[in-house]
Amino acid sequence: MKLIQVNNAAEGGKKAFDLVKEAMENGLETMGLATGSTPETLYQEMVSSDLDFSKLSSVNLDEYVGLSATDPQSYHMYMHEHLFAQKPFKESYIPNGKATDLSAECQRYEKILMDHPVDLQILGIGRNGHIGFNEPGTAFDTPTHVVELTESTIQANQRYFDKIEDVPTQAISMGIQSIMKSNMIILLAFGTAKAEAIKGMIEGPITEELPASVLQNHPNVIIIADSDATCELS
Ligand code: F6R
Repeated sequence: MKLIQVNNAAEGGKKAFDLVKEAMENGLETMGLATGSTPETLYQEMVSSDLDFSKLSSVNLDEYVGLSATDPQSYHMYMHEHLFAQKPFKESYIPNGKATDLSAECQRYEKILMDHPVDLQILGIGRNGHIGFNEPGTAFDTPTHVVELTESTIQANQRYFDKIEDVPTQAISMGIQSIMKSNMIILLAFGTAKAEAIKGMIEGPITEELPASVLQNHPNVIIIADSDATCELS
């Protein structure tokens, strides 16, 4: 794992953008994308750049179960607002949270991932060390699956909803196995809320209790983090 320390999220977004640009110069075809507050500065850099993403494919990590693509809180809508409306990709895949057969949807998504191997995956990290929506205890060999969100994740995501009862309790997420197949991974982390998870991910044992710790086994991971997120590192 390589750690790049930055002063703040704005600088982190710029660093990540430079790496995306470099990857494009080196033949990037498919980008794995994340939602949430963390990648926003990267997406701002992408949107305000003169780069053209229309020859790239994208696959997103996850989507809430029960939210349609047009729901304002859906990750489909997040991606549209933060990136795709201004910078369309050739094709963009996000799990369908409204699928009637969720396990068939997971299989369909795995097939998409097989047809579009991810060259560069963008990740955030949950306070409990989740990546995608792979919560603590998820087996490392899990492919795309339906997840029961933990109380801590529901509370963390409440900020996007009017009330906690509105936060979906399930999501479809790329599995840890799917994430680990990416050639290169950039994980972004900003703020003290992520400090404990970052310490566990980098210095702790590799354990399913802290899903991001599996990244110690990946040959090409770059962590871009600010001093708040790295304050617990020894
Ligand atoms: C989002 C995702 C999650 C987030 C994580 C951090 O697609 O898969 O793992 O990256 O929950 O969320 P933020 O960035 O909002 O702190």
